[in-house]
Amino acid sequence: MEDSDVKLKEEIVDLKKRRNTVILAHNYQLGEVQDMADFVGDSLELSQKAATTEADVIVFCGVHFMAETASILCPDKIVLLPDMNAGCPMANMVTVPRLREKKKEHPGATVVCYVNSTAAVKAESDVCCTSANAVKVVEKIPVNEEIIFVPDQYLGGYVAAQTGRKMILWPGYCPTHIRIRPQDISRQRAEHPQAKVLVHPECRPEATALADEVLSTGGIIRLSRETEAAEIIIGTEIGIIHRLRKENPGKKFFPASEQAVCPRMKLITLESILGSLEEMTPEVKVPERIRLRAKAAVDRMLEIG
Ligand code: 13P
Ligand code: SF4
Repeated sequence: MEDSDVKLKEEIVDLKKRRNTVILAHNYQLGEVQDMADFVGDSLELSQKAATTEADVIVFCGVHFMAETASILCPDKIVLLPDMNAGCPMANMVTVPRLREKKKEHPGATVVCYVNSTAAVKAESDVCCTSANAVKVVEKIPVNEEIIFVPDQYLGGYVAAQTGRKMILWPGYCPTHIRIRPQDISRQRAEHPQAKVLVHPECRPEATALADEVLSTGGIIRLSRETEAAEIIIGTEIGIIHRLRKENPGKKFFPASEQAVCPRMKLITLESILGSLEEMTPEVKVPERIRLRAKAAVDRMLEIG
């Protein structure tokens, strides 16, 4: 490690202590960012962590909607997102006016909102979900109720297939996960016939159909730890491979596609974390009027778990 890296890390640790800060990082973050974090997890685990932390400051190493969720749950804490350009493109594929129109077309429908959405869209929704609990959330909705699912058509389609519920799917998608093609998975399977294939539900149905298991990033981490398989093909953003290899040195991990990179996730660096702690900016704060309504949808999700 270079001397400058050591110094950078020492400065972060020192400032973090002085400011009573917790660093939360998503499983897709750069390896060095994950290694610097107090906790690394999936969207659900990170929001549960944010909801219970005793820190005064949360440095959120992830994308904007994740920092917003922390702000929704912890209005008294300072939530820093080290780079404001770290936004999830899928979250911007649904807007409040368009969702309101859809609700008008289907009065009485329950709106289930993937957590990869803006706080304003969450405020228009009945309940949130992540990829870890989407099936459970939908199963709780009475069978006679119509469901509008926003914004990920592929997660929504997967949940509809798992639950047998008819759902109105918003046409959003993740530009990173659609790069994982069925032929990528088939090629990896041919090269590693003994491997287990774990795929994220944001992938296209043609890709999830080839998986042994379809899981959130947290689910992929857990199953990789528990499985007897020595080789595992991973169909999600490749940042997760760092943690998988670190936690499972005896197993081999193969990304289904090297193209599955989320550029926004990679904007957070050790330099931007330090800069953010020094300046205590950029802060993500959800206006109270939106926060209270969005919190109701997030709380309903957290009650389900
Ligand atoms: P997880 O909730 O599975 O961590 O997924 C978040 C995400 O952004 C996937 O692209
Ligand atoms: Fe958004 Fe896709 Fe990046 Fe996840 S991987 S943050 S859904 S763009």
